[in-house]
Amino acid sequence: MNRRSALSLVAAHVAASPLFSAEDDDLYGPVNVHEFEDIARRKLHKLAYDFIAGGVEDERTLRSNRDAYGHWNLVPRVMVDVTNIDTSLDLFGIHLESPIIIAPTGGKELVMPRADEVVAKAALKSKTLLCSATGAKKLLDDGEPLNWWINGIGQPTKEQAVNFAKRTEDGGGKAIVLTVDNAYQSNRDRNNRNRFDYGMMSSGVPKAGEGMKPVNPATPVMWKPHTPNLTWSYIDWVRSASKIPIILKGIVAPEDAEIAVERGASGIVVSNHGGRQQDGVIGTLDALPDVVDAVSGKVPVLMDGGIRRGSDILKALSLGAKAVLVGRPPLWGLAAFGQPGVERVLWMLAAELKLSMGLSGQAKLSTITRRLVRKNA
Ligand SMILES: Cc1cc2nc3c(=O)[nH]c(=O)nc-3n(C[C@H](O)[C@H](O)[C@H](O)COP(=O)(O)O)c2cc1C
Repeated sequence: MNRRSALSLVAAHVAASPLFSAEDDDLYGPVNVHEFEDIARRKLHKLAYDFIAGGVEDERTLRSNRDAYGHWNLVPRVMVDVTNIDTSLDLFGIHLESPIIIAPTGGKELVMPRADEVVAKAALKSKTLLCSATGAKKLLDDGEPLNWWINGIGQPTKEQAVNFAKRTEDGGGKAIVLTVDNAYQSNRDRNNRNRFDYGMMSSGVPKAGEGMKPVNPATPVMWKPHTPNLTWSYIDWVRSASKIPIILKGIVAPEDAEIAVERGASGIVVSNHGGRQQDGVIGTLDALPDVVDAVSGKVPVLMDGGIRRGSDILKALSLGAKAVLVGRPPLWGLAAFGQPGVERVLWMLAAELKLSMGLSGQAKLSTITRRLVRKNA
């Protein structure tokens, strides 16, 4: 063997064997959100991992969300003083240090008992806004300054909606986030294959590798109505009873964004439910610019879906998002290391965003514009 091929063999070996390998119990092992997911996958029961990671049917929407970050490239600016990076913003009267919000995610009990409370504590510690009131109650009762938005799928009658809005406002909720893409329970092949049933959550957290008794036959979940009669009148109902903002989550069509603004929505979250509702839907980063144009600055537009890196967030901000929500990343942190894992994931995303801004010549959020990104030809 000559010297060059011997050296390339050594190089290949070094590349394949990292100096340090992340241990499952080392909070500082994973160097990015993807590696938190790897640990979560090892620790969680398959049923729980699939429930969180999975999307609907062939998971095209799930992939579209991630792929969209590859369609857009940053065009960084240079020679700007980026010694200090300020990622703070004011959103619906709340001051945030970073434009990263925890998205509502039901079913956390599959990860650990009282998971909602643990995530709420992490949000408080990280000074992050939490979208979902479940689990926050104890902290609020203790007088902790947790910022929370309540999430819901709407109530079928005006009377119920009015009561809900009043209760939320009286309870200190800072906004109602109405999930509008949930007309029917979606058809998730992974859950169907695992005989997943929402009732399983009440029977505790399954351990990794443990057998679970199938509750359901492996039939596709179809035609289970959630909110098929939810219409724009819901905004009027909430408005008649409370003054807190109502933010619509789950809009990807610019036409709907226009109507939402006309009908008095206070904000919009461009979202396809993390690829969990309908397959073959546009990736949210790709949907964002048209929605932002349709809204033309009348209300804040937020977005979620597939964010795993600070540079993903910067791209979303460049395309007009005021802030972003993250769904699975905090759950990977939770499954990997509990509350410190959630905090670490949030910290990592915030730090990566700052770095990405610093390397793009952006010292504050207000300088970020659409000119910072270009779509691949
Ligand atoms: C396990 C899980 C449960 C979710 N539950 C809800 C929910 O109850 N209401 C809702 O509006 N969105 C729900 N979502 C969607 C998230 O709010 C968010 O839109 C999505 O996760 C963003 O994509 P990401 O996970 O790639 O960040 C859920 C997502 C996950 C992963």
